[in-house]
Parts: sequence; C-alpha cells; structure tokens
Amino acid sequence: MTKLLLGDCAVRMKELESESVDLVVTSPPYDSIRNYNGYKFDFETIGNELFRLLKKGGIIVWVVKDSINKGNRSLTSFKQALFFQSIGLIVYDIIIYEKASATLPHPRRYRDAHEFMFIFSKGRPKTVNLLSDRKNRWGGTTNWGQKTVRETDGKLTKRKSQIVKEYGVRYNIWRYNTGKRHSASDDLAFKHPAIFPEKLAEDHILSWSNPDDLVLDPMMGSGTTGKTAVKNGRNFIGIEISEEYLKIAEERINKVKSST
Ligand SMILES: C[S@@+](CC[C@H](N)C(=O)[O-])C[C@H]1O[C@@H](n2cnc3c(N)ncnc32)[C@H](O)[C@@H]1O
Repeated sequence: MTKLLLGDCAVRMKELESESVDLVVTSPPYDSIRNYNGYKFDFETIGNELFRLLKKGGIIVWVVKDSINKGNRSLTSFKQALFFQSIGLIVYDIIIYEKASATLPHPRRYRDAHEFMFIFSKGRPKTVNLLSDRKNRWGGTTNWGQKTVRETDGKLTKRKSQIVKEYGVRYNIWRYNTGKRHSASDDLAFKHPAIFPEKLAEDHILSWSNPDDLVLDPMMGSGTTGKTAVKNGRNFIGIEISEEYLKIAEERINKVKSST
C-alpha cells in the first residue's frame, strides 16, 4: 500500500489511524535555511500527531540541522528533541549523519559536515535490526597480534587463534557521499533543494522496520523515504505541502513500483 497526500501534515495526519505506523523517517524544514516554496510548519502539533500515530515500540527518525543566526547556532534540533522527550518518547539514540563533503570554508569556523539523526521510540523499540557492515580490524582468524600468552605460573605459551567475524555492528556515526550521482540514483530528486541520501533512508528502514510494516514521512519532499520504503517491501504514507514536490515524489515512487 502506498498513499501520497497533499497538504499540511499537521492537518492531514489527523485523518490517519492512531497507533498504525511502525516507523517515521523524516526531515523537517531546517529553521529558515531554505525556503521550501514558502511553507511553514507547526512543530508541536506535528510532534503530538506523530506520537499518536506511532505504534507501541515504533520509531521516529528525525534528521535535522541547526541554522546559525548572527554567529549563534539556533539549537532548534535540541529544542525539538527535548519536546519529543517531554511528550513521552524515549531518545533512543542520536546518530551523526556525516557528510563526505563539508560546507565551504569559513575563516573562523570549522567546516560543517554533519547533521543529527535523532532516534525516538515509543517505549522499547519493537524492531532493531542492527547493521553489521563495519570491517573488523581483526576479522578472520586472529591472535590479536600476540603470538604468546603468559600463564599464571609465568611460562610463555603459544596463544590460540580465535575466529573473529569479518564485520561488526556499525558505530553511531554514519557517513554518506552527498550531491549529484551520490544522494540519489535518479536525477529527478535534485529538483528538490534539500534531499537526504537514499542510502541514509534505506539504512534506517532496514534497521527499524520489517517487510510489510508501515513507514510514514510527513514532510516527504522529493519522496526519498517513500522510494526506499517501497523498494524494500514496506507500505508507505507520504505527506507534502508543496504540489511541485509531491509530483516529484509520486514519479520517483511509481518508477520503483513499476520495476519491482
Ligand atoms: C528537508 S525537506 C525533506 C526532504 C526529503 N527528506 C527528501 O529527501 O527529499 C522538508 C520538506 O517538508 C515540506 N514541508 C514543510 N512544511 C510542511 C508541512 N507543514 N506539511 C508537509 N510538508 C511540509 C517542505 O515543502 C519540504 O519539501
């Protein structure tokens, strides 16, 4: 099932059934960094609606970045996280989205190369499929560089080799290439000014949901979450306030549907 809705998500989410959503993967407008066709959003209503829609054990992935106003970081991301916590969600993790390419150099600041990915859960998460794609330094058969071991009687004996998995569970800093030919596998996505990488959406969908689960993106932009959810056999509901972006999302998602 795929459903794409046009309008303000604070309003359109009211049409959806309580405790029906397994996973939300979304990214709100970042302060006033970008003008998404001039639309604003009502954060607190959206936060409360997301809480209502989430199943017990469901997860919200909230990808966000702060603006800098007169040299001062807005901390909107933290204010939003504190709000989510105040309405009863657990701040299960804060994963750093590291961008392989940073912002332009600044004479008095380090170059900005990350965003936050807050992982909120409604109680204990019901689905956790940790991604194990970090190459283990000692993967294979190893004695960790030590050929001998000293026994309690002081004698040196040969250290037995052990088998260590080639890949271990990922750390909570996730690095992605961004920009043309990296963030999305189609050109259409780049008609939107602020997409996140398809791989990022996919990594969260695989981590926090199972096939046939329902994934929601209430501010879906070019439809990256939807495209990836459908590709991975999940149901999807997307809401977008701009008709122009909704059409882009629709086209991207339909292409995946027709190829699966
Ligand atoms: C950061 S972008 C999301 C980009 C998306 N993750 C992608 O990869 O294409 C935020 C989107 O939220 C939309 N938006 C802003 N306010 C909204 C609202 N109240 N309801 C629904 N969508 C809204 C904007 O039009 C914009 O497309």
